[in-house]
Amino acid sequence: MCGIVAYLGEKPAQPILIEGLKRLEYRGYDSAGVAFLEGGKIRVQKTSGRISALEAILEKPKPENCLGIGHTRWATHGEPNTVNAHPHLDHAGKIALVHNGIIENYSTLKKWLTEKGVEFLSDTDTEVAVNLIGYFYGKGDGDEEIKRGNNQNKFEWAVQRALHEIHGTYGFAIICNDYPGMLIGAKKGSPLILGIGKNEYIIASDASAIVEHTTQAIYLSDNEMVTITADNFHSKTINNVEVTKDLKEIEFSLEQIELGEFKFHMLKEIFEQPKSLRTCMGGRLDKQSKRVILGGISSHLRELTRTKHIILSGCGTAFHAGLVGEFLLEHLARIPTEVEYASEFRYRNPIIEDGTVVISISQSGETADTLAAVEQAKERGALSLGIVNVVGSTIARTTDAGIYLHAGPEIGVASTKAFTGQVAVLSMLAIELGRRKHLSETNAGNLIEELSAIPDKIAKILEQSDHIKEIAAKNIEKNNWLFLGRGFNYPVALEGALKLKEISYIHAEGLPAAEMKHGPIALIADQMPAVFIATAGPQYEKIIGNIEEVRARGGKTIIVATEGDDNIIPYADHLITIPDCPELFQPLLTVVPLQLLAYHAAVLRGLDVDKPRNLAKSVTVE
Ligand code: AGP
Ligand code: GLU
Repeated sequence: MCGIVAYLGEKPAQPILIEGLKRLEYRGYDSAGVAFLEGGKIRVQKTSGRISALEAILEKPKPENCLGIGHTRWATHGEPNTVNAHPHLDHAGKIALVHNGIIENYSTLKKWLTEKGVEFLSDTDTEVAVNLIGYFYGKGDGDEEIKRGNNQNKFEWAVQRALHEIHGTYGFAIICNDYPGMLIGAKKGSPLILGIGKNEYIIASDASAIVEHTTQAIYLSDNEMVTITADNFHSKTINNVEVTKDLKEIEFSLEQIELGEFKFHMLKEIFEQPKSLRTCMGGRLDKQSKRVILGGISSHLRELTRTKHIILSGCGTAFHAGLVGEFLLEHLARIPTEVEYASEFRYRNPIIEDGTVVISISQSGETADTLAAVEQAKERGALSLGIVNVVGSTIARTTDAGIYLHAGPEIGVASTKAFTGQVAVLSMLAIELGRRKHLSETNAGNLIEELSAIPDKIAKILEQSDHIKEIAAKNIEKNNWLFLGRGFNYPVALEGALKLKEISYIHAEGLPAAEMKHGPIALIADQMPAVFIATAGPQYEKIIGNIEEVRARGGKTIIVATEGDDNIIPYADHLITIPDCPELFQPLLTVVPLQLLAYHAAVLRGLDVDKPRNLAKSVTVE
């Protein structure tokens, strides 16, 4: 949920840390700080607020400071103030650390350390971790019970010894004033990547802080650490066993994470959808053979074809994509499918019969609840597959196999191109499984043609952005909206409501349109905005009825309909049209106007679209 970055190399660390933190700011922006080793002492500078607030207090970079750690926070323990900002120092002032994650047994450890005479300054769990390392570091010489291996120094040993006591999740970057040329990273449950450049190393929570300096990286696994010096690095387990890590190529480039001519990443990513979908489907839709090629799961397709039960699991937008996936898999492949909130699935002792397949959906591949659901599924014997965007992410590496979106980095906190990528992957999967069961070659071929035409249709919808902005402008004063859809578009109604809520702070509720009469219709007040997805499909007449129910009570209708449908005009206070396509692929189109509606509402409200309050891009804590 927060971003850590650390540098050891030949250049001044400060500007590199600040630039890296800016690239990670979407992960958390409560407070920010940096720490450097200077003249045998650790200098910490930190403040509540954004990275710009940190820059305002920083001293001029010192060229000799080529080792440092940095952090931009999303608070879990302790309010987002300066004292609780990272980096945190141990009691003796010898060790500084930044942290992404949660120390679950921090209160027990804090009590134990306090009894040992340690004084704490902050309310964070993180300060307990650095003091635990500091405690063992202080003991590292004298205490006869503490035996060090021959290939480790006191700093490494203290870190390893402390990590054995910590329960919870962490991505750490740690420095010690007795080891001015050494940087340690450690990982468990939160992401940590080591970028390997020319005579320089960068540790970061994700590749966006690294790619400007190098595209060569290693991805630490849980219970691993890395000790970095000016000319080398060693990766080890926390039991001090050396591990060899493969060097990976970071897949995306700098311009993919830069704003370009856009004001916010969210708008850029909305407009990237024709391209990101072409990339996502590229090489996978084979029009000649009328088949879908999903290399990442090819060895599991037989098991998938035979399964009697698929469980789709995810959070937020990923969960909504899963709802569309349920409709697609049952409609095309006739495989019983259910969708679970990962946060519920992980705790409810789920029934996983023999042959069940659990497919976990996650843009970041780091969402703690979804990762826990993956681990639950595997533990109970299910085949665990992933639909993930970030290559090399923890969920991608924990599942048995998976399908990457290849949508490119998604920086905006509000997920957009990842949603359409997830739905496209689920559509392709449903076609291929359907083809292996009941779907005729002709039908499969038609569906593949229709799916491959979607990116151009999205491009047409994007031309209506200004029109959608005008609709938003006429309704942003209203603080309660409804989003309503039926069939394949019901999950899109939920997604539209989430988009509006999370970036414009307007309260919104998504519902199956038929559910209105079972209670929510009581909410309809004069001029209340009700967004309907009323596109061509088997329930069109039914949704017209729902629209009339709202209009009869003074509600204001914003309707997404199929272009050329003149019948809908009298029902719409505001009308947005989408190109025609089969109902089962409509979510890929109907979501786009709702993404733009939310985006424009937030901008018109003067809000920071990419960094909405209380949120962060990747929820790596529970
Ligand atoms: C969506 O706009 C939100 N940012 C949030 O609901 C998100 O979809 C959810 O946290 C899941 O994230 P993931 O796809 O990275 O697992
Ligand atoms: N738990 C730490 C804190 O509250 C880190 C939070 C995070 O990873 O976002 O400061």
